[in-house]
Amino acid sequence: MTRFPDDFLWGAATAAYQIEGSPLADGAGASIWRRFSHDPRLMIAKGDTGEVACDHYRRWHDDVALMKTLGLQAYRFSIAWGRVLPEGTGRINQAGLDFYERLVDELLANGIQPLVTLYHWDLPAALDDRGGWLNRDSADWFADYARVLFDRLDGRVTRWVTINEPWVVADGGYLNGVLAPGHRNMFEAPIVSRNLMRAHGRAVQAYRAGGAHEIGLVVNIEPKQAASDSAADHAAQRRAEAYMNRQYLDPALCGRTPPELAEMYGEAWQDWSPDDLALARQRLDFLGVNYYTRSVVRADDAAFLTRAAPVPQPRSTHMTTGWEVSPQALTDMLVWVRAEYGDIPLYVTENGAAFYDPPRAMNGAIDDPLRVDYLRTHIAAVGEAIARGVDVRGYMLWSLLDNLEWTLGYAQRFGIVHVDFETQARTLKNSAHFYRDVIAGNGALP
Ligand code: NOJ
Repeated sequence: MTRFPDDFLWGAATAAYQIEGSPLADGAGASIWRRFSHDPRLMIAKGDTGEVACDHYRRWHDDVALMKTLGLQAYRFSIAWGRVLPEGTGRINQAGLDFYERLVDELLANGIQPLVTLYHWDLPAALDDRGGWLNRDSADWFADYARVLFDRLDGRVTRWVTINEPWVVADGGYLNGVLAPGHRNMFEAPIVSRNLMRAHGRAVQAYRAGGAHEIGLVVNIEPKQAASDSAADHAAQRRAEAYMNRQYLDPALCGRTPPELAEMYGEAWQDWSPDDLALARQRLDFLGVNYYTRSVVRADDAAFLTRAAPVPQPRSTHMTTGWEVSPQALTDMLVWVRAEYGDIPLYVTENGAAFYDPPRAMNGAIDDPLRVDYLRTHIAAVGEAIARGVDVRGYMLWSLLDNLEWTLGYAQRFGIVHVDFETQARTLKNSAHFYRDVIAGNGALP
């Protein structure tokens, strides 16, 4: 059994639009997600929206008590930009800022360290009207917004994340159109990627000017494995990896863009200027990695952009999202990050699984053995990476609560705490009891 370091941080994660509800309360400005989910084309499964979600905006106090029950040492959450700056820039909405300040204070009073994400996909709609992430000014808008939070909360918050999963923002929001703002445009995606990384860079610079603690970036990494030893499949693996995994790590940590991107995007690609590359590469205190699944790929000229097609793995267990369960790939991924990018402190900032929860037992218990198994094997996989010398400092389980899984709606349940969306009742699933024991034993698996 691997020993986790004594100061290893065990926590759980959420994001604002997925749990808060009341998106326009107390003077908040609408976000692109509020707009997208109210689009008459009904972009979200079953017409779900974030109007109520987990009602966390009103139940935050009880939710912190719940975290305390679980023994969480850290809580990763995101700030809704539009609650703080309703127009995205300029005027501060004190009530919005107060909400997050109260939350942070309550966490600290309960001995739970806040890990704060500044951008988890809910751009103010007012900024989208000005071009959103397509506008080069977005880097300055973001830094100005970040500064407001740093000024108010740095010190009480000691770990900041600039942007959550830039790949998903660019790919889902601007290339495939499945996430807000719902664009499908091959020319836009690389522009957005560059502006996201410029925004990340500007926010880190703003933090260095006055912040006294830690700041990092969170990327999703899905290891890509070639389906065969053929040269074609290996090239496909490299393209898929460049697109999904290296597109943001290379600029942030090495000041370059992966060469495969120019080839894949063709005329839609513009080289980054030396200034933009330098801006994207700031000293980071840590890197956050979100891991759910791997994918096996083969060369396929018909596959859009990457010309790499996923190969189904019918023998594996899959989540209700269709994602393959592969704990080994989590170890491999953490080892890969260190080998490719050096010995930067890492946090697993998300890891978890969506499965159907069986009906309640007579005694009210919610038995979710697949999720328990997922957590057990993936926590062991993190331990294995640590044993192999990777500097992993914490694990933030996704997610504390069942919540709005973006376009997939409420049907995908990632929570270790069950939420009855009719009554807002919270019930600890067996996975929550399991995770509480893991934390109590600092990673010793019950
Ligand atoms: C990554 C995202 O950051 C989070 O918002 C999402 O719910 C989970 N993955 C699960 O898909």
